[in-house]
Amino acid sequence: MEHDPREVAAVFGRAAARYDTVIPFFARLGARLVEWADLAPGESVLDVGCGRGATLFPAAERVGPSGRVLGVDLSNEMVELLSDDIEQRGLANAAAWQMNAQELDVADESFDVALSSFVLHLLPDPEAAAGEARRALRPSGRVVASAPVTTGQQWEFLRRLFATFGNRTIRPVPAPFRPDFDLVPVLESAGFQVVRSVDEHVEFHFADEEQWWDWAWSQGMRAVLELLPPSDLAECREEAFRELAALRTPDGIPLRQAARFVVAHKVPS
Ligand SMILES: C[S@@+](CC[C@H](N)C(=O)[O-])C[C@H]1O[C@@H](n2cnc3c(N)ncnc32)[C@H](O)[C@@H]1O
Repeated sequence: MEHDPREVAAVFGRAAARYDTVIPFFARLGARLVEWADLAPGESVLDVGCGRGATLFPAAERVGPSGRVLGVDLSNEMVELLSDDIEQRGLANAAAWQMNAQELDVADESFDVALSSFVLHLLPDPEAAAGEARRALRPSGRVVASAPVTTGQQWEFLRRLFATFGNRTIRPVPAPFRPDFDLVPVLESAGFQVVRSVDEHVEFHFADEEQWWDWAWSQGMRAVLELLPPSDLAECREEAFRELAALRTPDGIPLRQAARFVVAHKVPS
């Protein structure tokens, strides 16, 4: 199915107000991406699919007042809320603009680094977005991106859940689901040389099943949930709670998320 980038972004627009407020999922993954990027003071950074700033804020701190970070996101809600947060923090070296990652409205060779945390796997055309990031980078530029690795207990249960309920939506789910997505060939095909690709696990804990359900609605997983008829949604919740109960430990329900972090250099054409 041909996906529409505006419909993918609209899912996130509906999640924007509560995005990353249930557990600091994207905040921790974004902070880790910025560590991998090893940013230097004064660098100019493009954050592709910036969301509510999980990557933008730590990046702005690292590049300091002589650097700058431009976050771009196709969801207007994300951009407005992030712009408010930037203003409230009084940051002069960061800004957020509404833009499609697949057709960036930025000048050629105008950034030192392109960052993208948990975005490329969601886009209808990840190769186009990687090509646009390459165009925006100076000849010595680098891209540092991450995407989920869908292995482990949590994903076994999610695959079962989506296999059952993904077929019951009232219309096709607008966001692509690519459990086998790999950033490395995507970046290589766009003219990057991959210098590092590392898989890491980040541990999270949910207090209970209700908190997990709240979290599912606060991020991209809602793409499936919001299209289920009421009785199927209730059944999906019950099924998820049964699976989650089996994962429960004395500390709550663990989520062990694996992520691939990739550092790649622009290859001169
Ligand atoms: C999983 S979120 C990650 C956001 C952020 N990088 C973070 O780590 O919190 C994906 C983000 O990509 C944005 N997005 C989806 N399609 C896009 C597109 N075509 N161009 C730019 N941003 C897009 C969504 O609006 C959302 O904010």
